[in-house]
Amino acid sequence: MEENTRNTIFVEEAEILAQHAFAEEQFVLRVLAPKCAASAKPGQFSHIQCDPQRLMRRPLSIMRVSATEGWVEFLYKAVGEGTQLLSQRLVGEMLSVMGPIGRPFELDENKPKALLLGGGVGIPPMICLSELIKEQFGDIKPTVFMGSEVPFPFERERSALPVQGLSNETSDCLPLLEGWNIPSRLASLQHYDGVYQGYITDLARDWLQALSDAERQQVAIYSCGPTPMLKAVAALAAEFSLPCQVSLEEYMACAVGGCAGCVVKVSTDEGEAMKRVCVDGPVFEAASVFA
Ligand SMILES: Cc1cc2nc3c(=O)[nH]c(=O)nc-3n(C[C@H](O)[C@H](O)[C@H](O)COP(=O)(O)OP(=O)(O)OC[C@H]3O[C@@H](n4cnc5c(N)ncnc54)[C@H](O)[C@@H]3O)c2cc1C
Ligand code: FES
Repeated sequence: MEENTRNTIFVEEAEILAQHAFAEEQFVLRVLAPKCAASAKPGQFSHIQCDPQRLMRRPLSIMRVSATEGWVEFLYKAVGEGTQLLSQRLVGEMLSVMGPIGRPFELDENKPKALLLGGGVGIPPMICLSELIKEQFGDIKPTVFMGSEVPFPFERERSALPVQGLSNETSDCLPLLEGWNIPSRLASLQHYDGVYQGYITDLARDWLQALSDAERQQVAIYSCGPTPMLKAVAALAAEFSLPCQVSLEEYMACAVGGCAGCVVKVSTDEGEAMKRVCVDGPVFEAASVFA
């Protein structure tokens, strides 16, 4: 994996361009942060000061960027004090946005079938990675599965793009990806019409099993989501002997490598090592963190 990107972190006073609310306290926030937008990559995040009266910052994954228009977009769920304060901020107000931070996903060009698995607030990096593939990696064909236990933060629609190995009942997709000609499907344990009922890893297994051996050898997995999901994704990758990168979420204070508040145990060629999720990750090889 490439060297970390600490040298390109900027702090910007970013104007809020849009803040849209969706079900269950989910929000899509767009800010004007041209320096961050110029170099942000999928898997990286920004550390955002949620309120001008509070010093605390909160890490949010980058979902979309426009380098030409200078904006960065995030999807977040208001779960506590910081994100609730952020959800009250209005269009036109300024936010202190530090980023882009962290080691991004690294696309494996020898694996032309990319399987992207995003769960809950792990969906944003998968959208970012999809957009990068669409724009710069025409030889890679992504298939995107997304899981959520609350209503998805977008209007679902029936897909016209086929996905191998799935029944017609698993029909719904994310319209944004459909518009990019990228097949996507949704999974949830809840009963949502058009959505696979079960774990996202079961949906992924159905897809993998429908591939021929030769096709399966072309697959690389990229994933972000809650830790239990990532463990299941790592186990699925091991079951099918597939390369897999995961983006971890840890509690963060400084987010620039200074406090060691976010360390995880990682296996390396030299044995076990403690790595900082903020700057050594958040993206790691799945097998190195979930042995
Ligand atoms: C690299 C990274 C990327 C992230 N990307 C996103 C994103 O794109 N969208 C999004 O909604 N959230 C994301 N998160 C999680 C987000 O940062 C936390 O939800 C947020 O910091 C909570 O702050 P709070 O003050 O609102 O809540 P707090 O009061 O701090 O916590 C409220 C609840 O959230 C839980 N929580 C807090 N921080 C985390 C964490 N890091 N991981 C898991 N649970 C946590 C606490 O256990 C508690 O139950 C990301 C976290 C990291 C580390
Ligand atoms: S949050 Fe301080 S080192 Fe990672």
